[in-house]
Amino acid sequence: MYHSTQGRPTRQGHKGIPEGLFEEEQGLDGFYGPVSHLIKERPSTRWNSIEGNLKPRMFDLVKHLKNDVSASEVSGLTGQRLFYNNDLTVSSLWILPGVNPDQLESRRNADGDWMYFCHSGRGQVLSEYGVLDFTPGTYLVMPKCIGHTFFVKEPAHFLLIENRTSHFREPDRGIVGRHAPWDPNALVKPDLEGLYELMRKEKIDVRTVRIKHVDELTTIGYDDCVYDVQGWKGDLFPYTLHMDHIMPIMSHRVHLPPSVHTTFAARGFVVCSFLPRPMEEDKDALRVPFYHQNIDYDEILFYHDGDFFSRDNLHAGMMSFHPAGFPHGPHPKAMERVKTKTHTDEKAVMIDSRWPLKRDEALARFEVGDYWKSWKKK
Ligand SMILES: [Fe+2]
Repeated sequence: MYHSTQGRPTRQGHKGIPEGLFEEEQGLDGFYGPVSHLIKERPSTRWNSIEGNLKPRMFDLVKHLKNDVSASEVSGLTGQRLFYNNDLTVSSLWILPGVNPDQLESRRNADGDWMYFCHSGRGQVLSEYGVLDFTPGTYLVMPKCIGHTFFVKEPAHFLLIENRTSHFREPDRGIVGRHAPWDPNALVKPDLEGLYELMRKEKIDVRTVRIKHVDELTTIGYDDCVYDVQGWKGDLFPYTLHMDHIMPIMSHRVHLPPSVHTTFAARGFVVCSFLPRPMEEDKDALRVPFYHQNIDYDEILFYHDGDFFSRDNLHAGMMSFHPAGFPHGPHPKAMERVKTKTHTDEKAVMIDSRWPLKRDEALARFEVGDYWKSWKKK
């Protein structure tokens, strides 16, 4: 389709919006495809009623407590399922200490890759490839069918993303080159020597493997430890990337679309990281996320850490859901607060799914009521 205009549009998206008017971006393909910017008298989020299930939602995962262990065997391995479709599952998972080191188990997912995002806690994860450390802010990518064992001395809370129809890959880097927003050298590879050092020191022995396949569990046992690799080579292995090693892409002149914050891509969804950065400097630049309709993608945003100025009553551990094509954008107070801000100080993980996400029934326990009303001026 050709680029076209009607009426009085702006010259540059997200900039020079006439005083008192609002810009709304409507885009296909996660804003990579055809996009239009509409200059409106009023934001589309000014609704006073929504009848039906399709609406923006907010959840508080802090309510998913450590002792909230489900009776199901599968959820013992994967945690509490939150959202799912054919391509992905998003869960909230606690890994707790207390298991004797000589009775630890290996976990293996035959249904897809797992990406663990560490929200709190720290520890190590062991695999045949070596040991990896994790702290809050670590993405841990565990390819399909690779057995691994968590070793923690304090409770660790993860957002767990299961990739069911593809494998995680780096984002399309386009014109920013191969080393932005993260350098491939920032990926941490497993340490094989460190694995055996840790196992010796902590007297770790792993003789049981629990495998998830078509969402059923199978357990296999061994007479000796499953970790006995003396060496390996190849380009398949688990790895970590810490948020601190992602260099956010920005323009000092204009607000860039969320796609520049893509950290990992997969079939049917992307995982993005929103990180602290300076605000745009141009006087007429929009400095808050624009009102938008992401017409093809359901958006999940998990608030990990920092000061979430763009929303009221928001704390770390909360998660928002904005269904595809549903208009959303900054809250009224954010427009005021942003005037005195010189930088953002929030860390969040966004999962954008090309196909609609279903909500697990359990999510209702964590839902914060009336979030859809939160754009109303108070
Ligand atoms: Fe959005």
